[in-house]
Amino acid sequence: MRPQISVFLGTVVSFVCAQGFNGDWDVAYAKATTTLAKLSTSEKVGLVTGIGWGKGPCTGNTSPLTSINFRTLCLQDGPLGVRSTTGITAFPPGIQAASTWDRSLMYDRGHGIGEETKTLGINVILGPVCGPLGEFAQGGRNWEGFSSDPYLAGVATEQTIGGIQDAGAQACAKHFIGNEQERGRETMNSVIDDRTMHELYLWPFAEAVNANVAAVMCSYNKIGGSWACENQHTINELLKTELGFRGYVVTDWNAGHSNTGAANAGLDMGMPGTDSTGKNPFWGSALQSAIGSGVPSTRLDDMVTRILASWYLTKQDSGYPAIGVTAKGGGSGRNVQTANHTATARAVARDGIVLLKNSGNLLPLQKPKSIAIIGSGAVANPQGINSCIDFGCDTGTLVQGWGSGSVTLPFLSAPADAITTRAKTDGTTVTTSATDTASQGSSAAQSADVAIVFITADSGEEYIVVEKNTGDRNDLEAWHNGADLVKAVAGVNKNTIVVVNTVGPILLEAFADLPNVKAIVWAGLPGEEAGDALVDVLYGSVSPSGKLPYTIAKVASDYGTAIQTGSDTFSEGLFIDYRHFDKSNIAPRYEFGFGLSYTTFNYSNITITGSPTSGTASGTIVPGGSSSLFDTVATVTAIVTNSGSVTGAEVAQLYIGLPSAAPSSPIRQLRGFQKVSIPAGASTPVTFNVRRKDLSYWDTTAKAWTVPQGSFTISVGASSRDIRLTGSIRAS
Ligand SMILES: *[C@@H]1O[C@H](CO)[C@@H](O)[C@H](O)[C@H]1NC(C)=O
Ligand SMILES: *[C@@H]1O[C@H](CO)[C@@H](O)[C@H](O)[C@H]1NC(C)=O
Ligand SMILES: *[C@@H]1O[C@H](CO)[C@@H](O)[C@H](O)[C@H]1NC(C)=O
Repeated sequence: MRPQISVFLGTVVSFVCAQGFNGDWDVAYAKATTTLAKLSTSEKVGLVTGIGWGKGPCTGNTSPLTSINFRTLCLQDGPLGVRSTTGITAFPPGIQAASTWDRSLMYDRGHGIGEETKTLGINVILGPVCGPLGEFAQGGRNWEGFSSDPYLAGVATEQTIGGIQDAGAQACAKHFIGNEQERGRETMNSVIDDRTMHELYLWPFAEAVNANVAAVMCSYNKIGGSWACENQHTINELLKTELGFRGYVVTDWNAGHSNTGAANAGLDMGMPGTDSTGKNPFWGSALQSAIGSGVPSTRLDDMVTRILASWYLTKQDSGYPAIGVTAKGGGSGRNVQTANHTATARAVARDGIVLLKNSGNLLPLQKPKSIAIIGSGAVANPQGINSCIDFGCDTGTLVQGWGSGSVTLPFLSAPADAITTRAKTDGTTVTTSATDTASQGSSAAQSADVAIVFITADSGEEYIVVEKNTGDRNDLEAWHNGADLVKAVAGVNKNTIVVVNTVGPILLEAFADLPNVKAIVWAGLPGEEAGDALVDVLYGSVSPSGKLPYTIAKVASDYGTAIQTGSDTFSEGLFIDYRHFDKSNIAPRYEFGFGLSYTTFNYSNITITGSPTSGTASGTIVPGGSSSLFDTVATVTAIVTNSGSVTGAEVAQLYIGLPSAAPSSPIRQLRGFQKVSIPAGASTPVTFNVRRKDLSYWDTTAKAWTVPQGSFTISVGASSRDIRLTGSIRAS
């Protein structure tokens, strides 16, 4: 569904959109049931099983079903575009999409990924990622997903799925669930209490199901002692029963451990079919042997029905293109980029940039006489933009993390190139010092009007070790002694701008308050259009409008969580990221939701309407849970005024605090946001529709979402700590 646009004195760039993908599961199930009746047992087993690691054209391939003219189902990585082929768009990763807080851009990015997926004949794109959520700031794969806040991650998940599936591809929400770190991911046990499970880690998956996602991927770890891909509680009870998920569950690659146990716990598809050594028979003939002796044949029929129903739901049964990728890709992929996808990639990269500091309004740049560009992170990898396998290096400008969530770049707009091109139009002299050596940086910077220093921090998946980081980051410092480089440059140049390309938070204390560090530009992970997007912001062709999708702390221990060495007990419960900083009254360097603009915004005229009733959620189960959870029970509005002198976009944020009848709850939690672009001097209304779920907590005694009785605090503001308007609402 396209978001609805509403105009009032200014332009609403992103309005509350209907949930995700509109599909009719009943119709899809009816078709699937008819088709099922034509299949033999071995054909059914072939549809639920991969043909083997590294075999077939795609990351995962099922056996063709000639009797119904059904070719291989093709599943392909990954969450930011089509992996293992060339000629695709390298969209910015999920974390950058979240950083835009723009529903339309999240949707458009998903739609672009979906269109390229379909054009290449791929049925299923293995994304979006909403687990890991971000229990750990150092978590290696956080950047593939959206945010450590479940509401923001949930909206981004829903919009991305809507985009992918409206384009005709199947989305696969992953990794389900509790796979929060790379260290020990294939052996560790995640022990998550029921309330934390529901309010944090399950939340975005519930939004995925509500968006009618076709598939969900179970993860490598154990949960409560049982492997994620054979876990009765998480698959059968939470996902399929409580959330009413009607699509299929597929293993992460080689995450299956049993046949009978997994089948009876609700696993539907085993990938890649055999493990890379050819041992440990999983699914395939081993599953077939178990049918009738441990696994009822109705369970096999259910697996097949779910897979076929998802195929019908997304209308892949007619006119779907032939598969256009080849195993391990590389050389000769078809070019499926479009001008629209390139523009979307640039818009997400640009609008995800967060301006953290801008002393004396150094930015936007006003025709400086000379610029020194400093740091290895300013230029393309000198060995070639795709020279590191799966991006397993931090060489040159950083535009995505490493691992299976990376894609081959079709081109790269490197920051130094884009700035140099733009600077020429002003007659600005540019020198580039593409090393991270402090002495070289300071000598390049000392006679320049403006010095732009690039620093990075990288992470990825555990099968590649980069500069001694085994997936998760070892610390939260800038890599390559970035803080020393910044200090050296700021020591000689009073107009120092720091550009940070990073997978997640890094510590800025070494330089954030230095008077010569005039600006800090959080450029995140921008994908192929890195340089163009940065120039758009540095030169003010747009005002920066990104907001942090996580907290930037002063010291690493302020997060209150750290990568676990054995199993993960989730002992911090609900209190990750800003929930922890608020509870423990810790001042962050930059709080969740923070971001500056070239203009200023004033908030006024809050209204709060609605009369929610307390009690547990009821109603029939719809995809995502009890139907009443998705009812709007209150509406909050406000007026945002652009009180500065240039057009800009603001992300108005709604935070809600629960009454004391919901024990031990976070002080405030994000429960709405709206991004609005407003001309200077104009005003725009913002509207937050508050769903019953948004006022609920998970009552572990009732085992139900419950609206507590009493008064809720309502806060509207520009960040989690920049609250401009407050009010309250009572649930009777
Ligand atoms: C891409 O196309 C969609 C409509 O298909 C449109 O809404 C969107 O604005 C376009 N994006 C850009 C950046 O042109
Ligand atoms: C700005 O907001 C404040 C508080 O909401 C309000 O009192 C004031 O009138 C607003 N000013 C403008 C110029 O809108
Ligand atoms: C805000 O409310 C005041 C008082 O009701 C009203 O005069 C004013 O026009 C409102 N502002 C906007 C921008 O709607």
